[in-house]
Amino acid sequence: MASKVNNKQVTELLYQALETEKGGVEVYTTALKCAVNNDLKEEWQEYLEQTTTHVEVVSDLLRTMDLDLEAETPGRQVVRHIGKSLVKAMEMALSAGEPEAAQLVAAECVVLAETKDHLNWELIGEVAKNLKGDEAKALEEAHKQIEQEEDEHLYHYHTAGWTRELWIQSLGMPAVLPPPEEVKEVETAIGAARAKQARAQML
Ligand SMILES: [Fe+2]
Repeated sequence: MASKVNNKQVTELLYQALETEKGGVEVYTTALKCAVNNDLKEEWQEYLEQTTTHVEVVSDLLRTMDLDLEAETPGRQVVRHIGKSLVKAMEMALSAGEPEAAQLVAAECVVLAETKDHLNWELIGEVAKNLKGDEAKALEEAHKQIEQEEDEHLYHYHTAGWTRELWIQSLGMPAVLPPPEEVKEVETAIGAARAKQARAQML
């Protein structure tokens, strides 16, 4: 089993994870400038702090694995480009002078950024299960640390809930704010689906 893992691609995954977390710091910093709702602002502030920690966790992981933190890969450049594009999209919305619209753009950008982040950590967890020895231990340790910190999925599902409800509000329809995903402390896809189903009763 262990011999089947493509080490070069594991390294690529870790570089992309580092770039995703670094981009995440920029995305949350800009999203906070767009946030109008105070609960959302508070939530993103917390995610920004944790994402800053995630940058350190991945950096430590790369160091433990004797990998050059600055090494460039085409995939890493793509992740960086997407991160910068998300920031640019929010700045565009901000400069248009419609705060509510900019907040919506920011929520969508956070969901896009966290979708990649969520995938990275899911894959790191899978790799850890399929490797052996020190590398597996280091990956497992980092994965555990992130989970303990606050489940990565949470950022994804909660912000997706915010995005939907803020959109609904902007359409002039009754919205559930904070979103059901947040009230029900959703951490899984099944939980998110249930929370969405329950929203009618929360209106
Ligand atoms: Fe993260």
